[in-house]
Amino acid sequence: MGRRAERAKLRERLARVIAYGEMMGPLTVVTGPRGLGKTSLLRDVADQAASDGFVVCWTVGLKRKPFLDELLGQVARAMARTDSVPTPASRRHLEELAVQLNVGLVKVEARANPSGPGPAALDRRSVGQVEEFLGEAARLIRAGGGAGLLVMIDELHAPLEPASDRDSSQDQEAVNDAAVLLNAVQDMAAEKERFPLGVVGAGLPQTKTLLTRVATFAERTREIALPKLDGATSRALLTEPAGPFGVAWSGDALNWAIRQGDGYPQSLQIELVGVWCRSCSGRIGVMSKRYPPEFKDRAVKMVLSHLDEYPSVYAAARAIAPSLGCSWESVRRWVVADRAPARDGAGEVEEARRVRELEREVRDLREANEILKAASIFFAGELDPRRR
Ligand SMILES: Nc1ncnc2c1ncn2[C@@H]1O[C@H](COP(=O)(O)OP(=O)(O)OP(=O)(O)O)[C@@H](O)[C@H]1O
Ligand SMILES: [Mg+2]
Repeated sequence: MGRRAERAKLRERLARVIAYGEMMGPLTVVTGPRGLGKTSLLRDVADQAASDGFVVCWTVGLKRKPFLDELLGQVARAMARTDSVPTPASRRHLEELAVQLNVGLVKVEARANPSGPGPAALDRRSVGQVEEFLGEAARLIRAGGGAGLLVMIDELHAPLEPASDRDSSQDQEAVNDAAVLLNAVQDMAAEKERFPLGVVGAGLPQTKTLLTRVATFAERTREIALPKLDGATSRALLTEPAGPFGVAWSGDALNWAIRQGDGYPQSLQIELVGVWCRSCSGRIGVMSKRYPPEFKDRAVKMVLSHLDEYPSVYAAARAIAPSLGCSWESVRRWVVADRAPARDGAGEVEEARRVRELEREVRDLREANEILKAASIFFAGELDPRRR
């Protein structure tokens, strides 16, 4: 719902591939905080592109993990499945290129940068191979009557995330992968008429900065920063699902839910489920039990599904809670409670798990404490009259 302008922007760029068989331009990245609808937008555009004749490949970046091997492997698998490759000979040629790249067998040879963090010491050979492989795949799809190749990379920030809040170093293999990909896409965009190809990423707001750290030209990456949903779309998102049930919102409740949702589709959905559950159980308006179990379940699931991207439950709850419209302390408590084993004395294994959970919680609290300490030192400095 909504997102018309952003969808149109992406569709317009892909229309160049369809009409002229030329590349959609440099890497386009859709950015925004958690729960704003980045993946949904990409999925939507990918579905439409597939019905327009694109072969679509989808990869998800993982925290501080290289991703190029997986991405190229997805392309190779999609090419093996598609009917768009015209002749057995061209299929064989593509397979040979995949073998040269060792796709799926050995990592693309991006060399480690001996000078430490910063733009990677680029392996031009890998860049050339990636260009040749993606370019050949795209051209074959076109020659076979398709529109071209569309590569989607979700969670593009994740491989490039710094080690921690205090340590900004990035994973060198992931950095090398990103540098190889960015350079290949950049080179191809410079000769766009040769490549019926689109490369689109999505990630958290810092994605563009992280990309700029790995390849200095990344300022030419095109960013589509997703805005929050506007009031009218938020309203429609809440009211339309109720229509078929003959249920209407009271004005106050609707305005409250719109405010709580704050333009985040995910939070609006959670409000919708919450209000629905409360009203079904005749508890509407009972605000002391503010979050129904369905809300908590969804919040916990969301944190757990992104937990490997954060150093601790505390950090995940801090990052994710704003998009849920509730406090991080509540979210952290729900997650910890959810992960705690049943206290029924079911033996040593349970006990050991419980100890691990408690240790993790202590770590979380220590971390929270460190941050509070750092913040108070900072504010003490800021407020110190001698510094004025
Ligand atoms: N435009 C929209 N209209 C209605 N619902 C939407 C819209 N966009 C997203 N949603 C819903 O909001 C939820 C979050 O969307 P999505 O997963 O796409 O967000 P995201 O930005 O990718 O989040 P994350 O950063 O956590 O991956 C999903 O349940 C999705 O169905
Ligand atoms: Mg997403």
